[in-house]
Amino acid sequence: MGFFDKLFGTKQEEEKTMSKSNIGIILGSTREGRVSPQVGAWVKELADKRGDANYTIIDIADYKLPLLGEAGGDASGAAAWSEIIAKQDGFVFIVQEYNHSITGALKNALDYLREEWGNKAAGIVSYGSVGGARATEHLRGILGELLVADVRVHPALSLFTDFENGTVFKPADVQAASVNQMLDQVIPWTTALNTIRK
Ligand SMILES: Cc1cc2nc3c(=O)[nH]c(=O)nc-3n(C[C@H](O)[C@H](O)[C@H](O)COP(=O)(O)O)c2cc1C
Repeated sequence: MGFFDKLFGTKQEEEKTMSKSNIGIILGSTREGRVSPQVGAWVKELADKRGDANYTIIDIADYKLPLLGEAGGDASGAAAWSEIIAKQDGFVFIVQEYNHSITGALKNALDYLREEWGNKAAGIVSYGSVGGARATEHLRGILGELLVADVRVHPALSLFTDFENGTVFKPADVQAASVNQMLDQVIPWTTALNTIRK
């Protein structure tokens, strides 16, 4: 590899990146002090090691979406939200349990779009006192309506054993394998669904 290739990457590497699917890792919580950025960063690190897709963290908080249709709400972030979701071929939702369901912020962000979600695959990584299981089951129903194909394997993180004091993320060793098994299902489904969308 020549000097310039080392600096800028080879043409083959560039072509590989372009042909790989884009997977958005969506942070479902937006509150101050949230732990979702820690969980999202961990999933991205594991995913990037695989080298099988272009993984991007997507933070709903960055788009400052008002409630859908809210009078007087500043919806200037809505176009960028549509654009970033349209660019993805698949998703990993980082889901936290709020009152036995998903956050209002994630529900609102899902409601904002329709076509942009459709015919794409998704995996779910959740956390809560019982691993975010109840929120995940609610999300699966919503994703069905949006034509998102969510895979079976579901890493479920416990606030008691995968976090210290419920705030510092320290995942048990077994959880990394679960993320990889989930991605092993998301990537082929993403590839398959690309063929009916593109
Ligand atoms: C409004 C609210 C409701 C919650 N309800 C539940 C719940 O029903 N079940 C549960 O396991 N945890 C519940 N929790 C705990 C959250 O899962 C935990 O605080 C988690 O860290 C929230 O994710 P975040 O830090 O990314 O916002 C709730 C937290 C909040 C803020």
